[in-house]
Amino acid sequence: MSEDVLYEIDDEVATVTINRPDKYNALNVAVIKRLRELFKQAEEDPSVRVVVLTGAGEKAFAAGADITEFKNKNSETVRPLAENGQELCKYIEEMSKPVIAAVNGFALGGGCEIAMACDIRYASANARFGQPEINLGIIPGFGGTVRLPRLVGLGIAKELCFTGDQIKAEEAFRIGLVNRVFESVEELRQGVKDLAKKLSKKPGVAIKLAKKSLNNAWSLPLVDNLDFEVDVFCLTFDTEDKEIGVEAFLSKSKPEFKHK
Ligand code: COA
Repeated sequence: MSEDVLYEIDDEVATVTINRPDKYNALNVAVIKRLRELFKQAEEDPSVRVVVLTGAGEKAFAAGADITEFKNKNSETVRPLAENGQELCKYIEEMSKPVIAAVNGFALGGGCEIAMACDIRYASANARFGQPEINLGIIPGFGGTVRLPRLVGLGIAKELCFTGDQIKAEEAFRIGLVNRVFESVEELRQGVKDLAKKLSKKPGVAIKLAKKSLNNAWSLPLVDNLDFEVDVFCLTFDTEDKEIGVEAFLSKSKPEFKHK
């Protein structure tokens, strides 16, 4: 039996692939649990600098939570699903390494929500985004009503959540939901590979602290955010990488960061 989530490390980049292409990579309970384990593995593995999340095949990144598991669930029995989905998203958002979503097709419901928890979203032109839960008589539960308005603004988020409509990759780019769109899935994979390689060469401590400080922009009040930025800015001056980076600039050479 093939595994529902694949994990591969190549040159400091871990790629996590949701592997249920026949089911458009729908997120069942087991997949969510496995994703959480693999992201933890990537976080704790010092040989990994960047993580890529994608879906198997050319049709879907993930077409949402597995609807076949919704039957006979009530407010009590469905709660672990939402809590585990949210926990996975929060873990991705808060882990110290950059996470790139390579959105290679449908990113609907939970698929869109997990993509939104990633740091950077690249998509192929055939990607479709949306929060279609309303059409099932439910609402997003993996953070969609919270992260979508922060990324695209409250009005557009309400329209997407109330209508359940899908939007094309170009529209997702226009509203700021994705960073870049590629003509084909093949070009997307190459573009993501190039970005991951570029990020893997950046100083790891500075990346971690920049991510923390940028995430704060969503949560803490402005004054606290600015204080936090001062603190972590100062911390970077105690790293070996700061010496390496500054020295390389001054001697007109290429820095080889040690992530320390
Ligand atoms: N949960 C479970 N199975 C799903 C799924 C989901 N979220 N999304 C797709 N699938 C399955 C379909 O049941 C179908 O399986 P089958 O071949 O055994 O019947 C297979 O994936 C392909 O989907 P299908 O609907 O035949 O493809 P399509 O190209 O006509 O439509 C979608 C693609 C994504 C638009 C459509 O599958 C869809 O609307 N999925 C549900 C999206 C959703 O509501 N997500 C939020 C859930 S909270």
